[in-house]
Amino acid sequence: MKVLLLGTAGQLGRCVQDALRDGPAQLVPLTRHDLDLTDPAQLRAAFDQHRPDMVINAAAYNAVDRAETEAESAHQVNAQVPAQLAQLCVSRDAYLIHFSTDYVFDGQPQMGGAPYTEQALTHPLSVYGASKLAGEQAVLTSACRASVIRTSWLFSEYGTNFVKTMLRLANAVDPIQVVTDQRGCPTYAGDLAQVVKRLVAWDSSIAGPRPTGLFHYAGDTVISWYDFAQAIVASADAHGLLRQRPTLVPIKAAEFQSPALRPAYSALDSSLLTQELGVPASDWQRALLLVLARLKADRR
Ligand SMILES: NC(=O)c1ccc[n+]([C@@H]2O[C@H](COP(=O)([O-])OP(=O)(O)OC[C@H]3O[C@@H](n4cnc5c(N)ncnc54)[C@H](OP(=O)(O)O)[C@@H]3O)[C@@H](O)[C@H]2O)c1
Repeated sequence: MKVLLLGTAGQLGRCVQDALRDGPAQLVPLTRHDLDLTDPAQLRAAFDQHRPDMVINAAAYNAVDRAETEAESAHQVNAQVPAQLAQLCVSRDAYLIHFSTDYVFDGQPQMGGAPYTEQALTHPLSVYGASKLAGEQAVLTSACRASVIRTSWLFSEYGTNFVKTMLRLANAVDPIQVVTDQRGCPTYAGDLAQVVKRLVAWDSSIAGPRPTGLFHYAGDTVISWYDFAQAIVASADAHGLLRQRPTLVPIKAAEFQSPALRPAYSALDSSLLTQELGVPASDWQRALLLVLARLKADRR
């Protein structure tokens, strides 16, 4: 089986590449350098050249604040590209794995404050969230065999993410202000990559058709950015990654004055996918230690 990986240089793309390095499929990892996804002709040509059986779209426009003033670029990458990918996959009977976000929700308290399931009503607060919602709808309303996986608060040893930003700040700023009234589920991109691997390795002759539809996959606990920052700083200190331990100051999101609105609560209920695939929700605390150990090893 031939699998096209798009967004290979991103944090999830790199984790997927690691997870699929030794099989079970022939992986064709493409970066922006190989293929500008917003050029429809280039995208068609890549399909003609590689003839994939499966496509993993880890590419996205992820600059949540910048998207407020670059709506067209965000929609192009997050909505139009997945729509074209779905069409190309239909025409070649290829299976598509696409990713979306907890920012499709508005964070208003659910019944009993429970994490969002796949059935929950969407109502994005930001251009980024709206563009990702349009992308997932384009895939799900197409005739494409596809899984759309919403995830949240991704971190890893790769790319730019909250863990790496906190480490950088912790060695440069004291005190550090961190938002305390936004709560969600940190998710290790390496755990999400294992979910992808399960879908790639799916044996239809034993298990029936590969799962399709909308799924949530995220960390196993709901915390605030402030809680997350505390865990990062404490663990980084224990790993000897900090010159000195900074003071963390809890602030309200409104004080931060970021251009894009973010949901105050965006926890995702992962049970549908974890039961379907027999994988646990992301154990972000274990993963945080792993990521810090890898970052420490890289510094040597
Ligand atoms: N990060 C999070 O906290 C988070 C939270 C919820 C959901 N998600 C979703 O999870 C998925 C993976 O996110 P991530 O954090 O791994 O993203 P990421 O690190 O920002 O990587 C995205 C990749 O997409 C590539 N890309 C963007 N525009 C492109 C274009 N026109 N042509 C080709 N490649 C292009 C980027 O290339 P360059 O490297 O050249 O820019 C980058 O490598 C995305 O669907 C994202 O929306 C992420």
